[in-house]
Amino acid sequence: MVTARAPATSANLGSGFDTFGVALSHPADTVSVERAAETTIEVSGAGAEFIPTDPERNVVGAVADALDAPAHIHIDKGVRPSSGLGSSAASAAAAAVALNELYDRGYSRHDLVPVAAEGEAVVSGEAHADNVAPALLGGFTIVRSDDGATSIAADLSLVACLPEVVVSTRDAREVVPDSVSMADHVETVGNAATLTAGMCRSDSRLVGRGLDDPVVTPARAELITGYAGVREAALAAGATGVTVSGAGPSVLAVCEPGERRSVAIEMVEGFADAGVGARAYQTAVGDGATVL
Ligand code: HSE
Repeated sequence: MVTARAPATSANLGSGFDTFGVALSHPADTVSVERAAETTIEVSGAGAEFIPTDPERNVVGAVADALDAPAHIHIDKGVRPSSGLGSSAASAAAAAVALNELYDRGYSRHDLVPVAAEGEAVVSGEAHADNVAPALLGGFTIVRSDDGATSIAADLSLVACLPEVVVSTRDAREVVPDSVSMADHVETVGNAATLTAGMCRSDSRLVGRGLDDPVVTPARAELITGYAGVREAALAAGATGVTVSGAGPSVLAVCEPGERRSVAIEMVEGFADAGVGARAYQTAVGDGATVL
């Protein structure tokens, strides 16, 4: 048996829609695999009841198919589905790493990015690599349209606040504008470049500033009850920047390590003020998938 762990991730980071992602030090999914004649799947943990065990409809079934690696697969979910924290990507990445090891396929983590992205397509309909890339490679990642991915290690404190609201990925993609003005394009490029420079320097001020996004985030924020208040509360508690995590509903804040606890408390309080229950993960930029 081989067991692998892959982390939750936060895609987009505001200015890097469908491009940027970051691995979180926790939470994470754990996937165990054993050789079998055909693939079977068991799921336990956070939100397990919402995850299909039919290999045709589960990300890890698609990953096993792509690697020609049939197995009995047990997924222990640390990352709740529909959280905006890369739940299916965590399972896909952990399964890809575990099956690669079990069958001695010899693929690199970079090779496994398109494999895990294909698994993601089973559940989301589209193969976005902006969650699977950080789940596999760790750190801050930039994915390109040719499926290539670049990873940069960064030392940065984060809070990911997960409210008890449901935002469908379909709705979250429908509100994305079809086009952008040149002024918004120029602002977005400046913010994305600032964020990238901040990641290279592990500079929370630059990263927080670079999260600003005039195009996608304002539209998506409307889908998250309490977002404006939570954002204000996090900034008042010392966060250097706040944005929607992935397609939502989680909200991501960047801060200094000493402010992390108070930012987390204030974000949960901000959702409570809007009548929404929430939990906050006090986390950091973390590593990619590992064999345990
Ligand atoms: N970049 C994607 C989105 C992440 O924001 O829709 C979720 O797959």
